[in-house]
Order: sequence, then C-alpha cells, then structure tokens
Amino acid sequence: MPDTATMDKIVALCKRRGFIFASSEIYGGLGSTYDYGHYGVLLKTNVKNEWWRAMLQERDDIVALDSAILQHPRTWEASGHLAGFTDPMVDCRTCGQRFRADHLQDLPCPQKPSKHPGEGPSCDLTEARDFNLMFETTMGPVKDSGATVYLRPETAQGIFVNFKNVLQFSRKKPPFGIAQIGKSFRNEITPGNFVFRTREFEQMEMEFFVPPAEAAQWYAFWKQARHDWYTELGLRDDHLRMREHDPDELSHYSSGTADVEYLFPIGWSELEGIANRGNFDLTQHSEYSGQKLEYFDPQTKERYVPHVIEPAAGADRATLAFLVDAYDEDDLGGEQRTVLKLHPRLAPVKVAVLPLVRKDGQPEVAREIFTALRGRMQAEYDEGGSVGKRYRRQDEIGTPFCVTVDHQTLEDRTVTVRERDTLTQERVAIDDLADTLAARLAAPWQSPKLGAAASG
Ligand code: GAP
Repeated sequence: MPDTATMDKIVALCKRRGFIFASSEIYGGLGSTYDYGHYGVLLKTNVKNEWWRAMLQERDDIVALDSAILQHPRTWEASGHLAGFTDPMVDCRTCGQRFRADHLQDLPCPQKPSKHPGEGPSCDLTEARDFNLMFETTMGPVKDSGATVYLRPETAQGIFVNFKNVLQFSRKKPPFGIAQIGKSFRNEITPGNFVFRTREFEQMEMEFFVPPAEAAQWYAFWKQARHDWYTELGLRDDHLRMREHDPDELSHYSSGTADVEYLFPIGWSELEGIANRGNFDLTQHSEYSGQKLEYFDPQTKERYVPHVIEPAAGADRATLAFLVDAYDEDDLGGEQRTVLKLHPRLAPVKVAVLPLVRKDGQPEVAREIFTALRGRMQAEYDEGGSVGKRYRRQDEIGTPFCVTVDHQTLEDRTVTVRERDTLTQERVAIDDLADTLAARLAAPWQSPKLGAAASG
C-alpha cells in the first residue's frame, strides 16, 4: 500500500501547526535553515531525550559530554577535515547556479526542470573542483589569517580531543563510550528536502572506545542496537534497513561502515551511520597535539590506543523520519482526519484537557484536571472551538489522549478519555486519571499503520 506521507504534506503540516518553518521568514528565509516552533521543540527534545535514555540511563558504560562548537583549528587538521572534507562542485556559466558534481542525476536543471544540470540546451558546466564544507569565521577582533576558526562540521572531534580528560574523571576503562548531542554546521552545496539536509543541524554522536581485539564484536553490537532504537520508538521495520558500505565507499581508516536507512518520501536515505573507525582519530590527535591518547591497563600492564565504534545520528533527520512514519490520513465515515500516530513517548503533548462547553462549571473542572496532570506529563488545556475541531487539532499534533469534561463529570467526577489511534472513548474517574494515563503512556506501542498495511 503506498504511503500517504509526501514531503509536501509533512512540510505543510509542520508549518500549519508550528512544528518547523523557514528561518528568518520575514526576510524571505535563509537558504535551508529552519526554526522549530513549540511542538517541534517538544518533539525533537523527546527524540534527543530518548537517545540520552538509551545511551546513559539504560547503560553504565557511557558518559555525557558537551564540548564547544569552536575548537582549536589544529583539531581539523588532525581529523583530516581541513584537507579532505570536500564535495566536488560544478558551476553553470549560464544560470550561475552551483551543483554537487556527484548529484547531478538527482537534481533538476533550474532553467529546464525536466532535464538534469548539464543536459539542457544552454547548460554550460565548469570542470568539477573540490569545495570544503566547513564554515569559517574569525576569532577575536583582528581578522588575520591566524584568527581563522571553524564551526564544527561534526560533534565527534570534540569527543576525541577530550578522551584524556574524560578517561581521568569518569573512572571508566575500555570498553566505554562518550556521548554528545549538539549543533554541527556544513556548507552543503545542495541542501534540501526540508530538514533532511541543512547547513545547521543537530547531531547525536557516541564514540565507543574498545580494546582493538573487541572492535568487530562491538561494531556488530551497535549496528543492532541502533536499528532497534528506531523500531522500539515506532518506526516500521519494513521502512528501515541496514546498508553495509561497499569497500570502495569506506574511508581509508574505516574497516566497516553501515548506514541505517529509512524509506523517506525521497526514497531510501541515510538516517544514521555506524562506523568502525579503528584507532585513526586518537592516533591523529596524539600526533598533532603531542599528548598521549591511550589506555594503560593496570591488570594486564598493556598499553594501547583504543579502537572506536561510532554510531552517528542526526536529531533533525530522526525527527523527520518519525514525522513521516507517523503521518496518516484516516477516513472517519466520510470525514477525513490528518493524524500523527507518533509513539506516545515522542508525542509533543501527551494529553489535552477539553471542556465540552465553555459554561456550566466545565472549564473550571477541566482547568483543575489540567493543573493536576501537568505536573506528571506534558498537558494542554483547550476550550476554543467545537470539540470535533479540537480533537482534529490534537490529532494533527499527535496527542495520544484527549480528556473531555462534560455534564456527567459534574455529577460523578468521571471524564471521557479518547484514544488517538483507536478512537475509543472510555469513562475514567478523575481520581484515577493521572495513574491511568501514565500507565498507558509507558505501555509497549507499535505503529497502527503496521496493522493497516497487513489488512489493506
Ligand atoms: N562523525 C561522523 C559523522 O558526522 P555523518 O554520516 O557525516 O557522520 C552523521 O553524519 C549523521 O548526521 C547523518 O547520518 C545525518 O543523520 C546527520 N547529518 C549529516 N549531515 C547532515 C545535514 N547536512 N543535515 C542534517 N543532518 C545531517
């Protein structure tokens, strides 16, 4: 069954409900940068919190780090980014546009969109040349060459340069990991597809340092663990696959890299990369900094440079995948509803409290319930418009439960709990409400779209 979610529908919903919209919109936007509104912030925060939970709370061999975005420029010499973090670029002398030379077959010619750049009658492309993707800026008031610094293009290097610090303070020994979430910046030649590829984005990266002999085993472990993280949060298994890189795709230091790919509306595309990076990074930083970045095992008296397994994910790209996977359009007996069937743990708002009418003491009771619930979960109070319209609004932002206060509530202190996915309605005593909702939010969940596909 074809998926109802298209990129246009996702973009429209995100704008309509204030999840994500173009940055600096009043000035006409700024090429491929986006701002997150209230529900977008809540959703992406939930994605990041689930990542932290999997990395920190559910394990005892990973510690957290928040390193600076601006790092010593030698970092990028050692990592190889200064010399090699490039994409091949071509210019068209006719239309003045730039394209990634290796993506021409995926792009339309700006002047003749039915053709690819270079194929139109007036196209005049230059030879391909390397373009470094790092953004440069200047540190301090004097703009001389020694003051050049870079906005980090990945969070990973902040972890490697802190290996010694963390080893000292965390009282960990390999195998152990350092996890970080933060902004990264890449001057992408052809960004696009909404927040899939932007110039400013957030990464969730973890570097797992292991004894060299254990690298292959931990590489296999993290591939499986990262695949399972997405399915446990509701991504449909048949929309997710692991693609092992061919030997000619591998970086010279990597002995294995696999991409978790998701079937986005633009086709199968990378969601996260898992790489077996060997001892490349620590060795390079050791050489460039003159500091020993190694581990001495007091038991075996062995000294070695740990190997690194790196699961590197994008918070924005993961958020987009969860939105796409959740997007659905239901036919409710002739009436259409758009709904985000998000995993309840990811849903921006867990419960909306709605008085059926704005009189007869219902708003007062509804506000009392809302105040009691919001200490336990993200809740919203809404009394504007017909109840049907309010349900539709909550469906569109993916709220799993709506609690409705009606005339019966004032008689017996019960409310109606409406479930987003099944549309069932059930009466629950106000006194039991918070516990009932908390239990349902914690229960295992799977995408209702899975069942629909099987029966469709
Ligand atoms: N340290 C390894 C590293 O950065 P990567 O595959 O270049 O690896 C990891 O990036 C993840 O970061 C990607 O799988 C993707 O989810 C996200 N990402 C990379 N570039 C991005 C961009 N321009 N816009 C949005 N997300 C991006």
